[in-house]
Amino acid sequence: MVDNIKWHSGEINKAAREELLGQQGIVLWFTGLSGSGKSTIAVEVEKELYRRGKASYRLDGDNLRFGLNKDLGFTAEDRVENIRRIGEVAALFADAGLITLASFISPYRAGREAARQAAGTENFKEIYIRASVEACAERDPKGLYAKAKKGEIENFTGISAPYEEPENPELVVDTENLSLEESVKLVLGVI
Ligand code: ADX
Repeated sequence: MVDNIKWHSGEINKAAREELLGQQGIVLWFTGLSGSGKSTIAVEVEKELYRRGKASYRLDGDNLRFGLNKDLGFTAEDRVENIRRIGEVAALFADAGLITLASFISPYRAGREAARQAAGTENFKEIYIRASVEACAERDPKGLYAKAKKGEIENFTGISAPYEEPENPELVVDTENLSLEESVKLVLGVI
C-alpha cells in the first residue's frame, strides 16, 4: 500500500503553525448515541471558541456523509471506514493548528483509539456525550428511533447495532442531567 512512497516533511511544522495561531491544534472527539447532544454541544463550543478568537473547525457525522463519506452507509464495515477517514482528517486539521471538533457516533472503541493515535494522544480529547438509549429515543429529534423500532431503519445504533461506551474518556458529559450551557462549559474546560 505504501510502497515507493515516502513521507515528505515540509519546513513549517505543527509547532510553527501553533505559534502563528496562538493555540494548540487538538481534536475534541465527541462520541455518543444519535440524539445524545454531540452536534448541539459542538456547535455551541464552536461559537464560544470563535468569540474567544480561536480558530476551530467542526466535522459532523451527518454533514460529512454528503461529501467525503457519501459512499458509506451504516453497516459495521462502513462505519469503521467512516471513522477511519474522519480520524485521519481530524488529525490533519489538528496538525494544521486548528481546534477540531469531531462529532460522530463512532460506536467502536478501536476506531476511536485509532483516531487518537492518528492525532497523537497529547492532541486528542475523547468526550463521551452520555445519554441512555431510552432518553435519546424519547428526544428522537429526527424521528429515527421510532423508525428503527418499527424496523424501517437497519443497523440503528442502540436499537439494532452496538455502541461501545468509552472506558477512559478525558471527559463525560451527562446530558440527561446537565443543561446545554453546563455541558459547553465542561467541554471548554478540557481545552
Ligand atoms: S457512525 O456510526 O458512522 O459514527 P455518524 O455519526 O457518521 O455514524 O452518523 C450518524 C447519523 O446518521 C445519526 O445522527 C443519524 O442522523 C443518521 N443515521 C442514519 N442511519 C443511521 C443508523 N442506522 N444508525 C445510526 N445513525 C443513523
